[in-house]
Amino acid sequence: MDKEKEFHAIRTLVYELSKTSSVTFDLDILLDQLFAILHDFPELPLEMRGALVLCNPRGNFFQVAQYGMEPAWKCDFCWPGFFENAVLLPGSTIRSGLLDDPQSDEGQQQLLLLPLNSKYQLDGYLVLYSDPDYQPTAIDLDFYTDLSEALSVMLQRTLTHEVLQLRELELEDAHEDAIRSLGTASSYRDNETGWHVVRMSNFAVAIAKAMGLTDEQRELLHIAAPMHDVGKIGISDSILLKPGKLTTEEFEIMKTHTHIGITILSGKDEMIVAARDIAGSHHEKWNGSGYPMGLSGTNIPLLARVCAVADVFDALTSERPYKEPWSVTEATDWIIAKSGEHFDPDVVRAFEDAMPEILRIRELYRDDIIDPNQSVNLPPLPPRNNEWVKWSDKLKIGIDVIDEHHRYLFDLINDLFEVVTNKRGAREVARLVKATDAYARVHFRTEEQMMNHYGYEGIKGQEKQHHAFESKIGEFYEELHINPLVAQFDVLTYLRDWLIHHIHVEDAKLYTLVSARI
Ligand SMILES: [Fe+2]
Ligand SMILES: [Fe+2]
Ligand SMILES: [Fe+2]
Repeated sequence: MDKEKEFHAIRTLVYELSKTSSVTFDLDILLDQLFAILHDFPELPLEMRGALVLCNPRGNFFQVAQYGMEPAWKCDFCWPGFFENAVLLPGSTIRSGLLDDPQSDEGQQQLLLLPLNSKYQLDGYLVLYSDPDYQPTAIDLDFYTDLSEALSVMLQRTLTHEVLQLRELELEDAHEDAIRSLGTASSYRDNETGWHVVRMSNFAVAIAKAMGLTDEQRELLHIAAPMHDVGKIGISDSILLKPGKLTTEEFEIMKTHTHIGITILSGKDEMIVAARDIAGSHHEKWNGSGYPMGLSGTNIPLLARVCAVADVFDALTSERPYKEPWSVTEATDWIIAKSGEHFDPDVVRAFEDAMPEILRIRELYRDDIIDPNQSVNLPPLPPRNNEWVKWSDKLKIGIDVIDEHHRYLFDLINDLFEVVTNKRGAREVARLVKATDAYARVHFRTEEQMMNHYGYEGIKGQEKQHHAFESKIGEFYEELHINPLVAQFDVLTYLRDWLIHHIHVEDAKLYTLVSARI
C-alpha cells in the first residue's frame, strides 16, 4: 500500500470504528466492522479472521472477542502463553511470528500481533492471520500502529463503560445490604432457626416465578421478603422466645409486630415500599380474617400474599421448641385446604407448581447437620438448554444432600456462563459471582459442620481449601472492577476447574462417612 492509501485507510477505519463504538460496547461487533473495512484493502495479505486477546494480572491471555473464528468458550477462552515467542518487527510495536494456533490443526500459522495498551489496566493484542511469507512494509507497519492505537482507545472506552456499570451496582448493593441487615437483625432475636428467612424468601421467589411475575418483582421480593418479621425487634423476649403457646394477651402483643414493621420501614423507595407491604400484610388472610387490618382478597398486597404461603410452609415444616416439624405432604395438604380461605388461590396453585424447586431449596438450606446416610429423592430438574459444565453421576460423592449442593453450584456456574456468553455485561457477571460466592460459603459451612459432627479426619485440609477458594473469589471480584473484560472469562474457568477438582479429590473422600454414623 502507498502512503496516500495508508492515510485514507486509517482515516476510514478510525471513523467507522468510532461510529460503531459509540453505539455499542459489543467487541464482536467492533471486530465485524474492522474486518469489513480490512476486506477493502486486498493488498494487505490478511486472512479474514482474528481475535482480541487480553491479558490478566497473572499473564494469561483470554480471547474476549473474535471474527471468523470459533467463539472463545469453544476453545476454553484461554490462549496458551506463546506471545512472548513473537518477535518485534523492526522499528515498530507490532510483533509477528510463526505460532501455534490453538484453534487449528494446521500447525503453525503466521500471526501479526497489534498491541492494545492504555494507561489503565489494558494489555493485550489484536491477533491477525497473514500469508506465511508476508513481510509488512514500513507503510504497512505505520498503518498497523495507527490501527492498534485507535483500537486501544475504543477498548478503553468499553472498559470504562463496564467499570462504571459495576460502580453503579456497588451503590445499589450498599443500599440493599443496609435494608437486608435489618432483616438479619430481626431474625437473630427470634427463636426461629438460622435459615428460615433464607428458605422462606427463596420459596417466595420460586412461587413468584411460577405465577409469572416479572424479574423486577422477583428481585424486589428477594430483597424485601427477609424483612417480613422485622417488627419482631419491638416484641419483648418473654413473648418472642416463649417456648410454649402464647396466651390471648401475649398473642395480641405478638400481632403488633406487623405495625412495628410498618413503622420501621418508612420511606418512598420502591424496595422499602415492598418491604413495608410484606411486613405489614403477611398475616392478612384472603377471606379478611387476618391481622392487622383485616384486608381481604386482592386488597392484600400481592407480594404479601406470596410471602404468606412461603412463610407458613416453612414454619410448618420446621422444628420449633414447641412443635415437631410437619411432613412436606402434611404441610402442603394443609395449605391447599386453606386456599381461598387463608391464602390466595392463585398463589396456592403456583406454590404447587413450584414444589420441585421448593423441595430443592429445603435441601440447599438446611438447619440440621447432614446425616451422610440419609437419602434424598427430589423430582428431576428440567433439562437446561445451555449447559456448559455438565453434571453427571460420576460427580456424585454418595451423600445425597452434598450432591444436591454441588449440583446447585454447577447451576450457578452455568448461569454465569450464560451471562458471559450472551454478553449481558459486567454488572450481571458481578451479581452472579457474588451469588456463587455466597452459596459456596453456605455449602462449605454445611460440609464442615457435617465433618466436624462425624469426626472426619481430613476436616482441616478441607477447611483450608474452602477458605482459599473464598479468598480467591474475593480477588476475582476486585479484578472484575479493574478489568471486567478479562476477569469474567477468568473467573468462569476458575470456578469450573476448582469445583470439579475439589469434588473429585477432596469431597469424594467424604464417602468414608457413609455408614460410619456415630
Ligand atoms: Fe410474622
Ligand atoms: Fe463440596
Ligand atoms: Fe469441600
